[in-house]
Amino acid sequence: MFRGRLFTPVSDPFGAATEAETYKAHDDGFIAIDGSGRIAAVGDWGTAPSDAEVVNLGPNALITPGLIDTHLHAPQLEMIGSYGGHLLEWLNRYTFPTEAKFADPVHAAHVARIFFDQLLRNGTLTALIFSTIHAEATDIFFSEAERRGFRGIIGKTMMDRNAPECLLETADDSYANSRALLTKWHNRGLLRYAITPRFAPTSTPRLLELAGSLKREFPDVYVHTHISENRTEVEWVHQLFPEAEYADVYDHYGLLDHRTVLAHGVYLTDEELDLLAQRRARIAHCPNSNLFLGSGLFKLHHVRAAGVVVGLGSDIGAGTTPSLFTAMADAYKVQQVQNVSLTPLQLWYLATLGGARTLSIDDETGSLEVGKSADFLVLDLSATPLLELRMSHASSIEDVLAGLIFVGDDRAVERAFIAGREVLTAASRE
Ligand code: GUN
Ligand code: ZN
Repeated sequence: MFRGRLFTPVSDPFGAATEAETYKAHDDGFIAIDGSGRIAAVGDWGTAPSDAEVVNLGPNALITPGLIDTHLHAPQLEMIGSYGGHLLEWLNRYTFPTEAKFADPVHAAHVARIFFDQLLRNGTLTALIFSTIHAEATDIFFSEAERRGFRGIIGKTMMDRNAPECLLETADDSYANSRALLTKWHNRGLLRYAITPRFAPTSTPRLLELAGSLKREFPDVYVHTHISENRTEVEWVHQLFPEAEYADVYDHYGLLDHRTVLAHGVYLTDEELDLLAQRRARIAHCPNSNLFLGSGLFKLHHVRAAGVVVGLGSDIGAGTTPSLFTAMADAYKVQQVQNVSLTPLQLWYLATLGGARTLSIDDETGSLEVGKSADFLVLDLSATPLLELRMSHASSIEDVLAGLIFVGDDRAVERAFIAGREVLTAASRE
């Protein structure tokens, strides 16, 4: 059992009558974990069971749910900051050559270790992850996630056109290799599989058809892809699939349900938003990436008002950091320039419980509530002199969260637990 200050969202603060009912905060709180890694009790210290051993975290700690990254690319970690082009130039100039290197399993294993290290250091304890087209590299990412005790949804990228020859496969091979990985890894411990066609432009109709067949065979697997990130991309999709809007293309092949996560969605029409809402498909909003690639400004309130569930993604490596603190800060700024001011509670929700809802795993993680998996962080509110100064000024939990969002970074993440297992220790961060 851990004793310390504690904060957790418990419901959606967007549109709530009062934000106060959407979270629990305890200045002197505790969390108790049962033998199976679930939260046995949580609340005010005064209500803690008296028989358990107590680790007192002290006055500068904050216990809060693990952060959830709903969209990123593991193989792109090494190419962060590849500058100059917008989406399609960036893919051709930097992304495809980088991903080609993952034909080498030694390279994949090297990057996989650094990748999960970086996520844990940044407090990301759950993520939906693109691999490359390589089956072996994908297997390596899964193995490393399992070794670290990470909660991950991972998929082999599927591509059969409009990429360099060395990154293409036939639609049938893509199906067979995806299927083999799916049957090996889906629902193994904390891991899940995502059928991962890169996006419509690198997919023939046949590839999307086979991706749809796989989804019909295994209805509880995820579908992970991109949609309407960039104007030129949207025009290209109209040329390649002239009969339909972008979202209709995925729908036509049976790829949209509540376990579908579509990254970006900057340029979706109202008709497409209605379709996504009907199908309960989710959007991963990746503000850092949208700014870096100059893709555009996501209309968060408009998308949510249409009834579409939205989470936050770092979109490494178009995004320039795995930090969801930065994703929250950038989400704030992207809405600010559109005259919408998000609150710290809304931002923290998007990075935790909202992310869990986006991944349809909110019965398991995303908040600190009895019965859920004990997936939590111990943050150090005095991690840096600047954070300590900012916190000395914070009079409410909202302001503590604001300070963390705009001043906090990986240095504030002191310890991390997934399913009760310590996956980041103060010593392992050195
Ligand atoms: N659209 C298709 N592939 C990608 C990718 O790797 N990154 C981003 N940001 N958008 C994409
Ligand atoms: Zn992406």
